[in-house]
Amino acid sequence: MMDSSHLGSLAAWSAVDLARDQSWVFVLDDEARAHLTGMIKADHVEDRPLFDYAREDFDLGPAAATIGAAMHESLEGRGLALVKGLPRAGMSEKEFALLNWAIGLNSGVPRPQGRASQYISAVRDAGTDYRSASGRGYSSNAKLDFHVDGADIATLGCYNKALSGGQSMVSSSLTAYRLLADERPDLAEIAQADFHFSRQNEEAPDEAPYYSQPLFDTAEERLFCKWNRNRVQSAQKIDGVPPLSDAQRETMDVLDEVLRREDVMFTMFLEPGDMQIMNNHVLLHSRTDFVDHEAPEEKRMLCRLWLAPPKSVRLPKSWGHFFRSTKPGTVRGGILGHNYTDACRAFDRKQAASLGMSTVIA
Ligand SMILES: [Fe+2]
Repeated sequence: MMDSSHLGSLAAWSAVDLARDQSWVFVLDDEARAHLTGMIKADHVEDRPLFDYAREDFDLGPAAATIGAAMHESLEGRGLALVKGLPRAGMSEKEFALLNWAIGLNSGVPRPQGRASQYISAVRDAGTDYRSASGRGYSSNAKLDFHVDGADIATLGCYNKALSGGQSMVSSSLTAYRLLADERPDLAEIAQADFHFSRQNEEAPDEAPYYSQPLFDTAEERLFCKWNRNRVQSAQKIDGVPPLSDAQRETMDVLDEVLRREDVMFTMFLEPGDMQIMNNHVLLHSRTDFVDHEAPEEKRMLCRLWLAPPKSVRLPKSWGHFFRSTKPGTVRGGILGHNYTDACRAFDRKQAASLGMSTVIA
């Protein structure tokens, strides 16, 4: 059995803990909001590529301390933070996306997120089939499995909420592991051996269509989780991937059942102007399906960033297949995709240098 010292950390919360102590919720005051609005209105240039903006272009001013504290809570506290009060009103979708980008540039090195190597994703219903071989949840309106995203940190900035549904769910993977190990130590052992994950046809030229790693592993006495049922199921259709054993299937089912327990899963609706910050190593997330508004400008839309923060911790060796680097404070993770160009490499290097980080991505 693995070292369990990390299982007593703040990140090992229950749903009641999160409801009772809301110190993971951070609210921007009017001065901070006004500053952010002024900053974006001054800096936004229509159709200017994101890579042409630098961290130094965005002085977060009186919002910096609040956003920094929220990032810290996500990295070293509960693994989850909510920033409320981003100035959504009066901003176009592109201006709001730039505000998310500005916060990202001040917090880490944004990572590409899929086949198009996009560095910011509009989470909205684009009619994608989540369960297809190349399916991704963020561009569908489907109910999603509990999963982690492909970077140390994911941020979701809410521009519009759905007409109904689209409720956000989060569970602590540390708490889930503790319950699994207590109730079914046999399955906790299985979860610490390799599973095969599909890359959903988004692999870079030097990557195989799937990779293998355990669902739980440790590094420097911290417990890490990687779980995404959709990708494990998709991998079953790929040549060379062995069929899941009965014990593996049972592990998947019990883990998902634990994650959705009332005392484990915390639910919330993101309101326009909210930003959810998630540490994917200790937190799993999901959402319910949703019904959208009719008018295009009212449809549900969240801006998603994936970040490699400067103060990241060492990852388990087995995480290296996906993250490419397991060293603390490095540029790592993301889905390099099919369009990871020299411009991407140059951006990654520039942004890493600005934050004093080393770049080890190929
Ligand atoms: Fe996600």
